[in-house]
Amino acid sequence: MTVAWGSSKRGRARTGGMTSSRHVTFILFAAILSVPFVSIYIGYAIGVYMMPANIELPDSGVIIGPLRLNYTWYNTHNLSVTFGGRLGNNMFQYAALYGIGKANGLRPLITRQSALVAIFPHLKTRVTSQRRPGDYWPKYREMAPYRFDERTFNLNFMTNIELVGFFQSWRYFDHVRADVRKQFTFAAGLELEVTRFFERTQRLYRDGMYYVRGDAAKSPLQYVGIHVRRGDYLHQNSIEKGYTVADSGYIERAMSYFTTKYHNVIFVVCSDDMQWSRTHVKSRTHLVVYSPFTETAALDLCTLARCNHSITTVGSFSWWVGNLAGGETIYYKDFPKRGSWVASIFKPGDYYMPQWITV
Ligand SMILES: *[C@@H]1O[C@H](CO)[C@@H](O)[C@H](O)[C@H]1NC(C)=O
Ligand SMILES: *[C@@H]1O[C@H](CO)[C@@H](O)[C@H](O)[C@H]1NC(C)=O
Ligand SMILES: *[C@@H]1O[C@H](CO)[C@@H](O)[C@H](O)[C@H]1NC(C)=O
Repeated sequence: MTVAWGSSKRGRARTGGMTSSRHVTFILFAAILSVPFVSIYIGYAIGVYMMPANIELPDSGVIIGPLRLNYTWYNTHNLSVTFGGRLGNNMFQYAALYGIGKANGLRPLITRQSALVAIFPHLKTRVTSQRRPGDYWPKYREMAPYRFDERTFNLNFMTNIELVGFFQSWRYFDHVRADVRKQFTFAAGLELEVTRFFERTQRLYRDGMYYVRGDAAKSPLQYVGIHVRRGDYLHQNSIEKGYTVADSGYIERAMSYFTTKYHNVIFVVCSDDMQWSRTHVKSRTHLVVYSPFTETAALDLCTLARCNHSITTVGSFSWWVGNLAGGETIYYKDFPKRGSWVASIFKPGDYYMPQWITV
């Protein structure tokens, strides 16, 4: 073999015998070394093959470990919540109750006296005539309002528990969000009244001077709900805590965001201060309709939930407007007031939905 090689190569060939014996040693050494690695790999492959399939998650985009989220096979003990505040607060409390119950294997239980029972007939919870079912149960108090408290996903499921707090964070029920959205389907009577309102509005639009002709008329009609929270947020003690009220400049900016983006826009305004809203929320170019429901929270929420997009202001009612309507949601970024008590506990990432925008 080496005969045909040039003299310079012959030198290398002479040392070839030594190299090949080193090769053998090396291959032997590598073979011995590889034994544990190969065994580990085979063990891993067998393990992967034998592993049970991933559990099917209730909704996509879950933000916590999936294995923590289905303890429904226990479900021996009850979980309740103290309802405090009004509709928006109660909805946060119910949604958290449901999400925390699912994550721990506790069964939600609420009082029949809660306003939610009549407004949302599809809630998946047991109801009791007791005014406060968890009165004598151990309490779980939230760390602070306006932020997610992850310890709620590790409760003791061998005891009844009463949740105490406001639980204003989407993270408490993100793992069951489509389920919660379905449960917040309004009673048929409310829906009917709101349907009539939308029919009247549509007629007003078609007959009025706002009717868009030509190409623009072909683009779909977009209802933009505007919720203006004022009321108690104008009181001195609310202001001191850091609650702020959206100014008309913010609402104008938000309205022009939508009118720039879409051709056919109708604004639907609901508020706990309709008088202010009628004089301050206006448009020269687009139809603005005001809620006829004389500040009835459930009808207002049902109306705004039907809209395609939302302009929200401050408070949990406004939060649910954005959440139920889906579509694009604009929030008021000057809440809470800097340096205030609310600002010291407020965690924007836990409170505002990640896809919401501000103008
Ligand atoms: C959770 O467990 C229950 C009861 O075992 C089962 O019916 C349900 O499908 C499970 N849900 C998920 C999301 O795996
Ligand atoms: C949970 O509540 C239901 C309905 O009130 C009750 O029948 C049941 O005994 C409660 N479970 C426990 C473990 O207390
Ligand atoms: C906008 O909302 C209206 C009323 O709920 C609905 O009928 C319509 O389909 C929605 N339009 C779009 C583009 O989603």
